[in-house]
Amino acid sequence: MSTDRPFGLSTDRSFEGRVALVTGGSGGIGAAICRHLALAGASVAIGYASNAEPAEALAAELTDGARSAQAFGADLADPSAPAELIAGIERALGGVDVLVANHGRAHQAAYEDIDAEAFDRTLAINLRAPFLLAQAALPGMRERGFGRVLFISSAAAFRGGVIGPDYAASKAGLHGLTHFLASRTAKDGVTVNALAPGFIQTAMLPGDPAALAESVPVGRVGEPEEVADLALAILRNAYLTNHVLSLDGGMHPR
Ligand SMILES: NC(=O)c1ccc[n+]([C@@H]2O[C@H](COP(=O)([O-])OP(=O)(O)OC[C@H]3O[C@@H](n4cnc5c(N)ncnc54)[C@H](OP(=O)(O)O)[C@@H]3O)[C@@H](O)[C@H]2O)c1
Repeated sequence: MSTDRPFGLSTDRSFEGRVALVTGGSGGIGAAICRHLALAGASVAIGYASNAEPAEALAAELTDGARSAQAFGADLADPSAPAELIAGIERALGGVDVLVANHGRAHQAAYEDIDAEAFDRTLAINLRAPFLLAQAALPGMRERGFGRVLFISSAAAFRGGVIGPDYAASKAGLHGLTHFLASRTAKDGVTVNALAPGFIQTAMLPGDPAALAESVPVGRVGEPEEVADLALAILRNAYLTNHVLSLDGGMHPR
């Protein structure tokens, strides 16, 4: 599937004038969400940890006369990084209207082999950082009367998955975070939701796509553009909040 012209969005300008941060924008799903948001008119802050090159290349691709896209490096394992990242984006692009906390650590290991340090590291990146990002972005969103927060979790939150207990627990934690924050910000024009993908064709895919596809009713792994398509639908909709939506080819009906 081409990423040049995501389906359904050629005339959608819903995010004109908005500033969006997508963490993990150097990765597969994050890059697709950045492209969709830029096509919908947003100025996009592309977050990365160590892979500056794809984030910078994407920023160059998405910048045109009417909107800007900029790469922002931050290791979100550092507890001070989320607030610094939000403040840096506010200085460069303006207040963050749309936060897509998409970055993630997926360290595949048997539960017997995960020590306290590895467990804490996964939780720090996958759960603490999304909370701290939201905590830093929400005051501005509430003040402006518009905000969108979307946490990218995982089908592993429901099924356990194949990566590790730390990963599954961190993603399930995002669902609790969604419910806590959504109920407290809904009256201020802010929606908070989570999107839980199943197997998606990116560098993080935990195994051979053909083998993994055998457990998927649709018969294939998903594409990053399919995740981005649903992410935009969630972000556009002012009446959808406090929900966790799955996108998994039918693996986990609920
Ligand atoms: N692919 C799947 O099958 C699948 C399924 C369910 C859920 N998900 C979730 O989808 C999200 C995106 O994953 P992906 O599939 O697009 O994987 P990916 O291509 O490997 O991208 C992962 C992204 O996370 C960033 N990241 C990792 N550690 C970070 C840190 N300490 N601080 C800041 N950023 C960090 C990476 O930045 P650098 O490149 O700069 O290191 C990269 O941009 C993740 O939250 C993942 O858990 C993926």
